[in-house]
Amino acid sequence: MPASLKTHFLNEEYANPFMNASGVHCMTVQELEELSASKAGAFITKSATTSERQGNPKPRYCSVPLGSINSMGLPNEGFDYYLNYVIKHQEEHPGEAIPFFSVAGMSLKENLNLLERIQESDFKGVTELNLSCPNVPGKPQVAYDFEMTEQILNSVFKFFKKPLGVKLPPYFDFAHFDTMAKILNQYPLAYVNCINSIGNGLYIDVNEESVVVKPKNGFGGIGGEYIKPTALANVRAFYTRLNPDIKIIGTGGIRTGQDAFEHLLCGAAMLQVGTELYKEGVSIFARLEKELKEIMNQKGYSSIDEFRGKLKSL
Ligand code: SIN
Repeated sequence: MPASLKTHFLNEEYANPFMNASGVHCMTVQELEELSASKAGAFITKSATTSERQGNPKPRYCSVPLGSINSMGLPNEGFDYYLNYVIKHQEEHPGEAIPFFSVAGMSLKENLNLLERIQESDFKGVTELNLSCPNVPGKPQVAYDFEMTEQILNSVFKFFKKPLGVKLPPYFDFAHFDTMAKILNQYPLAYVNCINSIGNGLYIDVNEESVVVKPKNGFGGIGGEYIKPTALANVRAFYTRLNPDIKIIGTGGIRTGQDAFEHLLCGAAMLQVGTELYKEGVSIFARLEKELKEIMNQKGYSSIDEFRGKLKSL
């Protein structure tokens, strides 16, 4: 039987597991509509704050040969802009996948307020709480603070009843995988998204003897090929530690169908594409779909569930 990429995720069926990563090609309604019309199985909005934000000074994103460095600083059109869009989209496209909605408050209070507003709204889709933006000067990545993460999730799940996932930064130590998994397992999370960019890398233009992004003296989140092994490790570490009701979204270094296959083998349920979507545009989803199907056909898999999570150990 020819390979099918049909993906079941949180009681929804998607044509394939591919989505954009929040932050790429999802700032404006025009970009979101381009994702909606693309071959992506689902899509997600740019992480919203209460009010519109200009973000960090430019240049703040640079494509480099093995990936990207960014220090965007959460530029976005504000919570209402994206909430109105996702609700309108769900009403105008009944029977189609509802866009995921990403939020990133700057404080516990702001996160709770945004989620309360989603809870009270007509939005019927999935919300992603971004606990891992590395680029706002003076604001450390929330999910590196285990106590704060627990405090946020404790408060959120007192009132939030809609499906909620969290976007995590990469972790680099088994002790941290264990601690974070223990925290996450206490809550009815729909999913965790592994990983955001590897925070605070530095890329240097040797000819200019200079950094390539302006904010934070050139420090920024690293994406693309550089980060695939770290992304795979985080997907695998959480897939093998979290209770099976908490799904994993794999993000990081997906450039080819083979990268996608590897994320799925580690246990990812859906796949987000950032750096390579920025480089190639929305046509990337048709290519990834074709390449992943080719690999599955070569290996004789007709569905993703036949190999998802089945990475072998030696
Ligand atoms: C940004 O806007 O700085 C990127 C978003 C993120 O890494 O969460």
